[in-house]
Amino acid sequence: MPILAKAILASHNDGKVKEFQGWLQPWIGELLPLPSTIEIAETADSFLGNACLKATTAAKEMGEWAIADDSGLAVHALKGAPGIYSARYGATDAERIERLLREMAGVRDRRAEFICVIALARPDGTIAITTEGRCTGEILSAPRGSGGFGYDPIFWVPSQQRTFAEMSPMEKQQISHRGQALQQLQEYFQALSP
Ligand code: IMP
Repeated sequence: MPILAKAILASHNDGKVKEFQGWLQPWIGELLPLPSTIEIAETADSFLGNACLKATTAAKEMGEWAIADDSGLAVHALKGAPGIYSARYGATDAERIERLLREMAGVRDRRAEFICVIALARPDGTIAITTEGRCTGEILSAPRGSGGFGYDPIFWVPSQQRTFAEMSPMEKQQISHRGQALQQLQEYFQALSP
C-alpha cells in the first residue's frame, strides 16, 4: 500500500517525473506533473527557499501533496555562482558551460559542488520534510564525455576519476546530489511504512 495515493511533482518535465516516480514507486501511487497552465517562478534566494516555494505553491493550487526540487552548481572560486542561477547562466547547456569556463580561466582553485534540495508539502501547503544532497568535485578546463546534461561534461568527480558525463545514469544516480536527496526522501517514507 502506498503512503500517498497521489502527489504532484512541481515540474513540467516528464523526464523528471519519471525519474522521481522510479525512486518513490512503492510509497507514492501516482506522481503527476504540474499542469502546464501553472507556472511557478523561482524567486527565492536559496535552493531551500525555491524548493519550498514550489512545493507549497503546487500543493495549495492543486489541493494535493506536492514535491519540488531545486538544484545547481556552486563553484568555490566564484563564491557559490552560478548557484541558484545555474539554469539561467546562458541560453543553452553549451553557452552555460562556455561562460563558466571563461570565468574560470586561469583560476587554480577548481573546487565545486552540485547541490539539490527537495521539499515535500502537504495539501495545505505546509512543509512535511526537506532533504539535501551534495556532490563535490572539480571544474575541468574543457568538457569530457557525452552523457548526462547541463554542466555534467565539466564536472570531474575525483573519487570516480570521471566526469558526470562519463558515467552511466545508474552510476551517476548513486553518487549525485539528486540521488542523495532522493535517497533521504525514500528513508522518510520508509520510516512511515507500516
Ligand atoms: P533546476 O531545474 O531549477 O533545479 O535547475 C538546475 C540547473 O542546474 C540545471 O538546469 C543545470 O544547469 C544545473 N544542474 C542541476 N543538476 C545538474 C546535474 O546533475 N548535472 C548537470 N547540471 C545540473
